[in-house]
Amino acid sequence: MGIVIKTPEEIEKMRVACRLGAEALDYITPFVKPGVTTEELDRLCHAYMVDAQGAIPAPLNYAPPGHTPFPKSICTSLNHQICHGIPDARALKKGDIVNIDVTVIKDGFHGDTSRMFLVGAPSILAKRLCDVAFECMWLGIRAVRPGGHLGDIGAVIQKHAEGNGYSIVREFCGHGVGRGFHEEPQVLHYGRAGSGPELKPGMIFTIEPMVNAGRADIRMLPDGWTVVTRDHSLSAQWEHTVLVTETGCEVLTVSDGSPPCPF
Ligand code: MF3
Ligand code: CO
Ligand code: CO
Repeated sequence: MGIVIKTPEEIEKMRVACRLGAEALDYITPFVKPGVTTEELDRLCHAYMVDAQGAIPAPLNYAPPGHTPFPKSICTSLNHQICHGIPDARALKKGDIVNIDVTVIKDGFHGDTSRMFLVGAPSILAKRLCDVAFECMWLGIRAVRPGGHLGDIGAVIQKHAEGNGYSIVREFCGHGVGRGFHEEPQVLHYGRAGSGPELKPGMIFTIEPMVNAGRADIRMLPDGWTVVTRDHSLSAQWEHTVLVTETGCEVLTVSDGSPPCPF
């Protein structure tokens, strides 16, 4: 299939789907408090997407080869969980950090975005990890421009994470997104500047670095989805969907509640 260059009509539909994804995160933000279960967050997001947005939660029953269908509508990855955490009956407590990853399908197109939430007062360490992961995502976004290369993104992300004493997860990456949830290319969050395919206007992909406070090694839980740090260190992730434009890059997963670029 190769990397899809989106038409102006497809780009407009992606703008809509991506904005809805960001707005679903805005919607859930006030509910992310000590005592709420991740299952309740899932139920609220599902109802909002379906009833208020007229959208489909893409994770629900998503079953790529080698996976059982994902049982919920959002991913909630808590503390040492890296990604693809399954909402459950456990309540959030003060000091937790949780990534909420939403993907909505609207008019056939996917909007994919995630944010970190600090529950109650975070530890200095947890806050710093979340901040550095956020900076990593934005450094990657700032590296996006036509004529640049996919490897430029991974290189700046890896440098910033490792420069702060953290590590980058290798097994999961950003991805092209559009009519498909996971399209080409793979957007690695590590690597060498100038490597990989050239970036061209009309490409749309996610940047979603997973940054571990400890070692990069991962483990898969027996549920077949939840990915955790092997050393049980904390992990943080942020995700935006971006469009390569004629002059640079447009972040599509934006809403009133999106935390602004830190630079
Ligand atoms: N939203 C995730 C991503 O950023 C994918 C989740 S797949 C699921 O690519 F099945 F776990 F939901
Ligand atoms: Co994604
Ligand atoms: Co996502």
